[in-house]
Amino acid sequence: MDALHAAAVAITKARRIAVLTGAGVSAESGIPTFRSALASMGALWKDFDPATLATPEAFARDPERVTRWYDHRRLGCLAALPNPGHLALADLERDLESRGGEVILLTQNVDRLHQKAGSRRVVELHGTLITWRCTLTGRHTTPEPAPMREFPTPSPFDPRGLLRPNVVWFGERLPDDAVAAAENAAASCDVFMAVGTSSQVYPAAGFIHAAMARGAVTIEVNPEKTPISDLVDIRLQGPGGEVLPRLLVAARAGKGF
Ligand code: OAD
Repeated sequence: MDALHAAAVAITKARRIAVLTGAGVSAESGIPTFRSALASMGALWKDFDPATLATPEAFARDPERVTRWYDHRRLGCLAALPNPGHLALADLERDLESRGGEVILLTQNVDRLHQKAGSRRVVELHGTLITWRCTLTGRHTTPEPAPMREFPTPSPFDPRGLLRPNVVWFGERLPDDAVAAAENAAASCDVFMAVGTSSQVYPAAGFIHAAMARGAVTIEVNPEKTPISDLVDIRLQGPGGEVLPRLLVAARAGKGF
């Protein structure tokens, strides 16, 4: 049995599927990844140093630069469209639900493309770029789909505060409810898929190990090799936008969701 067929069988047998997604799943929507080895892909952290942009200290030091960079990325996310990989994952969720199962998406992405594609059970482990929050009150707002007017951006909730993106920066805790949902998914899934992630950033990279330890079938979708490639049960090598639709077709053909 080839790897695609084996993965299709595993997902048709599963009642609960957890899918961890990373920047690679949005690469085919034109959003750069953070650390891809493929030169053609353009990786964000190759051009920018995370310490100068993605930390609370960076924002305190240079809020104008950090706000400009995140606002530029926010507009890119708003303009982007889901690709066939996102759409296949949303279809998989609907298929499984129709037979009493469930798919939970644990995403490290901040672009909201899974939701745009129609996925409903999405846990945002690293927050989102689409909403911002006040540094003083913590209140959230969704800025309009146009460039911010001032850099840094004053908070509409308290004139002494600033707006910052609702993402998790290096050195910050992931939201407790998101971590709890991910731990629960890893502890109860029959299949755990890692799609488009370099599996290097923890705690997100640890969830597959928890699922593996309890015997869930593990599947990786990635064109490149990662630290988990030799550990997973099934490795599907290729871009998400090609592999995921083929996997869905194979699963539907095999069992008829
Ligand atoms: P990375 O940029 O680290 O890894 C992207 C992965 O996607 C790589 O393994 C690529 O091989 C793979 N990839 C590239 N194109 C793909 C495609 N078309 N289909 C499938 N896979 C593809 O992104 P993440 O693993 O998401 O955190 O990075 C994790 C975290 O590191 C991010 O959430 C971000 C970053 O620092 C924060 O900002 C907190």
